[in-house]
Amino acid sequence: MHSFRELADLFSARFNQAHFPATPATLYEPAEYFLGIGGKRVRPVMCLMGNELFDEVHPDAYQVATAIELFHNFTLVHDDIMDAAPLRRGMDTLHKKYGDNTALLAGDVMLIQAYEYINKVSPTYQKQILALFNQTARQVCEGQQLDMDFEKHDRVAMEEYIHMITLKTSVLLAASLKVGSLIGGASEGNRNHLYEFGKNLGIAFQVQDDFLDAFGDPEKFGKDPGGDIRQNKKTFLLLHAIEVCSDADRKELKHLLSSDDSDKVQRVLGIFKRCNVDDWANQLKERYLATALQHLDDIAVVSSRKKPLLELSEFLIQREY
Ligand code: IPE
Ligand code: IPE
Ligand code: MG
Ligand code: MG
Ligand code: MG
Repeated sequence: MHSFRELADLFSARFNQAHFPATPATLYEPAEYFLGIGGKRVRPVMCLMGNELFDEVHPDAYQVATAIELFHNFTLVHDDIMDAAPLRRGMDTLHKKYGDNTALLAGDVMLIQAYEYINKVSPTYQKQILALFNQTARQVCEGQQLDMDFEKHDRVAMEEYIHMITLKTSVLLAASLKVGSLIGGASEGNRNHLYEFGKNLGIAFQVQDDFLDAFGDPEKFGKDPGGDIRQNKKTFLLLHAIEVCSDADRKELKHLLSSDDSDKVQRVLGIFKRCNVDDWANQLKERYLATALQHLDDIAVVSSRKKPLLELSEFLIQREY
């Protein structure tokens, strides 16, 4: 059994190489630049963990893990255009450095390359992997569209927010574990519990991401602080604040949502703090973590094999970057 760190190192040793030809450099250099500026590699590690829960890590798991990390990077490049984000992993976003058109294409070739890696795995489970991969990719698109639609809505219910983050973020974490377990020969019951574990953990992960976007240390987080506030993202922070704040704060929030004053972020943060959004964040994360752990418990495998997944849960919801 390997720890998160060990699997991340094993994966990186294979992943950190050129994925594209040299020319045209105007397309492939930006793509390689983005893949080379880091990232936690959480999803490929989850694929390897899902595999190792049931068997030794199979070479095919590395192929699928690579496909998943490429797909994830494709979503980030396009997401940064949609979110008008200037910073990612502490560096310039691709569209900021090379323009929207090149960023779109660099993202596209990452997605295409992802399919090349899936094309390499054994036919024993290739069809199943492809079906889950495609279902997940479609769901991510749906979640991303809802995320943008909600920017323009005055009222979004907490359940709608959870539904949206499940689609845009958590199904990919869930699918990463599940495809690994497919390669490891897990039973359908075990695969489904593992998927639900990843899905609930993924919700807690996006909750933490939304919290860090407001309150994280930008040096560690590597993204532009307050970006979600500037974009009127309907995160749980905002939804919770609207629900529990004073009438005066609610009035101010309403005004701020339709403004782009230079002190917008500071003022919204002030309201968030008065509403104790940090307590709410912890409650929300704990709730989904508890459900995740219940599913982990239900997987019929000796508990000692589950240790890396427990460490992963801890890491994902405590992360500061
Ligand atoms: C960022 O994912 C996008 C979200 C779903 C929150 P990560 O936080 O895993 O990004 P990297 O790959 O480590 O940069
Ligand atoms: C990201 O949500 C979801 C996907 C990239 C699919 P965010 O927009 O919150 O991710 P970050 O914060 O930019 O990484
Ligand atoms: Mg974003
Ligand atoms: Mg986004
Ligand atoms: Mg975010």
